Amino acid sequence: MLVVWFPFGETDDQTIASCATILSEDEQARADRYRFEPSRRQFRATRWGLRTLLGHLLGIAPADITFRYGTHGKPHLAGTAAGLEFSVSHTGQCAAYAFCRDQLVGIDIEEPRARENTEGLVRRFFSEPEYRDWLSLPEAERLAAFYRGWTAKEAWLKARGTGLNFPLNHFAVPMSTCLERGLSWVHDEPGEPARWRLASLTAREDLAGSVAVLDPIGQIREVIWSGQEVHRAG
Ligand SMILES: CC(C)(COP(=O)(O)OP(=O)(O)OC[C@H]1O[C@@H](n2cnc3c(N)ncnc32)[C@H](O)[C@@H]1OP(=O)(O)O)[C@@H](O)C(=O)NCCC(=O)NCCS
Repeated sequence: MLVVWFPFGETDDQTIASCATILSEDEQARADRYRFEPSRRQFRATRWGLRTLLGHLLGIAPADITFRYGTHGKPHLAGTAAGLEFSVSHTGQCAAYAFCRDQLVGIDIEEPRARENTEGLVRRFFSEPEYRDWLSLPEAERLAAFYRGWTAKEAWLKARGTGLNFPLNHFAVPMSTCLERGLSWVHDEPGEPARWRLASLTAREDLAGSVAVLDPIGQIREVIWSGQEVHRAG
C-alpha cells in the first residue's frame, strides 16, 4: 500500500489555481459551492493532488480521470482503471491518500487537539468495549488513544464506503493497544473482524492517521509529497 501525505498549505497559489484545468466541471462547481475560501482551497488542492497522483500511477492525463461515486459518496475510478483502489482524507492544510491494488482501502487523518470532554465523546460515540478499553489507560495516554481510535474507525468506515451511515458504536477497534491487533467486533457480522487489517500512520508526527484495508495489508510505504515532483511519490 502506498500512502501519500500532501501538505498543500506549502503549495503556491499558482499551482492551486492551475486546478481549474484538470478538475472536472462538477468538481469545479462543487469547489465554488463552499462558502469559505479555506474550504474551497482544501477541496481544490486535494482533488488536484488526487488526480495528479492517480494520473501518475495509471499513466494517464490527470484531467482524463473519471470518478464515479458509491451510494454514500465514496469516490472510485470509473471504467477500465478499476482495480486500483484509493481513499482520501483531509484536515486543515494537509491531504492524505491511500492507494492499493484490488483491495478496498480507507484512510483518515486528523489534527489532534486538546479537548475538554474527550471522555464524553468516547462514551457517546464509541462502542461499550472501546469505552472500557480507553478508560483503562493512564490519563496522559488518553488523548492520543482517542485520535488513534477515531481515525481507525473512520478509515474502516471509509474502506467499506458507508461513511458515518454505519453507526460508530456498532464495531470496535483497539483503544489501549496498537491497531495492528485489528477489529475486535462488528455488530451482527461475526466474520467481518478477521477480514480487515488496521494500521497507524507515522510519517507526520503532528497529525494522527490510520488506514484500514481488506485482507493482507502488506508493507505500507508512506511518503510526503510537496506537490512539485510527482515521480517521487510513484
Ligand atoms: C466519509 C466521511 C466519513 C468523511 O469524513 P471526514 O473526516 O469528514 O472527512 P475526510 O477528509 O476524512 O474525508 C473526506 C473524503 O472522503 C471521501 N468520501 C466521501 N464519502 C465517502 C464514503 N462514504 N466512503 C469513503 N470515502 C468517502 C471523499 O474523497 C471525501 O473527500 P472530498 O469531500 O474532498 O471529496 C463522512 O463525511 C461521511 O460519513 N459521509 C457520508 C455522508 C453521506 O452519507 N451523505 C449522504 C450522501 S447522499
